[in-house]
Amino acid sequence: MDGIQEIKHHGASDSGRRGPSPSTEAVSKRNQLRQLSINPNHWYAVARSDEVGQRPHGVVLWQQPVVLYRDSQGQVQALADRCPHRQVRLSQGQVNGDRLVCAYHGWQFDAAGACVHIPYLGEKQRLPNCGVRPYPVREQDGFIWIFPGNTDAMASRGVAPLPLPEWDHLNYIVTVSVIDVNAHYSFLIENLMDMYHGHLHDDYQAWKDPILKHLQATSERVDAHYQAQSYYRIDKIWSVSQLFIPALRQLHPEPLDVSYVYPNWVATLGQDFKICCLFCPVDLAHTRAYLLHFTSLHAFHRLHKLPVTFRRWLKTRLFGAAQPLLDGLVAQDVVMLEQEQQAFWADPQAQGPELNSALAAVQRLMRQQAETVV
Ligand code: FES
Ligand SMILES: [Fe+2]
Repeated sequence: MDGIQEIKHHGASDSGRRGPSPSTEAVSKRNQLRQLSINPNHWYAVARSDEVGQRPHGVVLWQQPVVLYRDSQGQVQALADRCPHRQVRLSQGQVNGDRLVCAYHGWQFDAAGACVHIPYLGEKQRLPNCGVRPYPVREQDGFIWIFPGNTDAMASRGVAPLPLPEWDHLNYIVTVSVIDVNAHYSFLIENLMDMYHGHLHDDYQAWKDPILKHLQATSERVDAHYQAQSYYRIDKIWSVSQLFIPALRQLHPEPLDVSYVYPNWVATLGQDFKICCLFCPVDLAHTRAYLLHFTSLHAFHRLHKLPVTFRRWLKTRLFGAAQPLLDGLVAQDVVMLEQEQQAFWADPQAQGPELNSALAAVQRLMRQQAETVV
């Protein structure tokens, strides 16, 4: 799909109307959706910066084990997490200066993945010509991002990690929750784009009564514009407590904009509330993701005049202020997503009517991205 496709919302989508049972083609398309690969030609957030130190840290991105570590300069390096000698995990080893040392026989690898030292190499023996795949890696906005795809595509298309300027900005309080769900990533993004599931969340939800007003889609993203009633108005110093004391919340109308910026998700509710989900699909039935919540302190003009060191201290002190809220939301969603995955395996052909047209747009984008891998 080139250019922008605008979809006006008229209530129930076609799949929500009564009619004949779905065709074989429709059923097969649906099955493929739950078994779609990812488009590897994007940056994926695989770890938080503070998870990666001098000890190797293993992650998995779409069936590829990757080991992350910091070299002597503090730069993060990323290599395939598989020793070319006996195929064990390099993340079980150690870092020695700029080199990664395998736990088993102590072979050493540089940041480019070349084997550069074997402790018991004989005088007449040469280093074997073996190496480990290096991944492009960046540390940006509190996260470690890797690019698992075609590096020519990365350069030519100017692909970059999703910017998160609020992470370091002194006017935002940050909370992070980890989503670890035994379900295909398509279930998670459909959940995040469907604001009509607030029924599940009760006191944890920041908004109520959303109505989908407008939908836009391109080959890179889907933007769904809802109108909703927000619970939060962060304009007094005590208003921050609305994050953890539901009784203090005041309903008022706000735009609720949610976007699938492939492969990640971003949502804003008015000016005070932003939430993002950084996807790290692990395999066909396992998805990890970081859910980030940003609360704005823009309304506190006096606060902005205080010394930067105090504002930095306050931001650090309030890190995680919305933890119960975010963890509560995640726990409720995980139960539903895992049931969806189980139900799919039990009967891949079963499909209920879907009333939210944003989901069809999201499914199209997932298919296009997975199918246009270069
Ligand atoms: S298995 Fe890694 S050094 Fe032997
Ligand atoms: Fe949810």
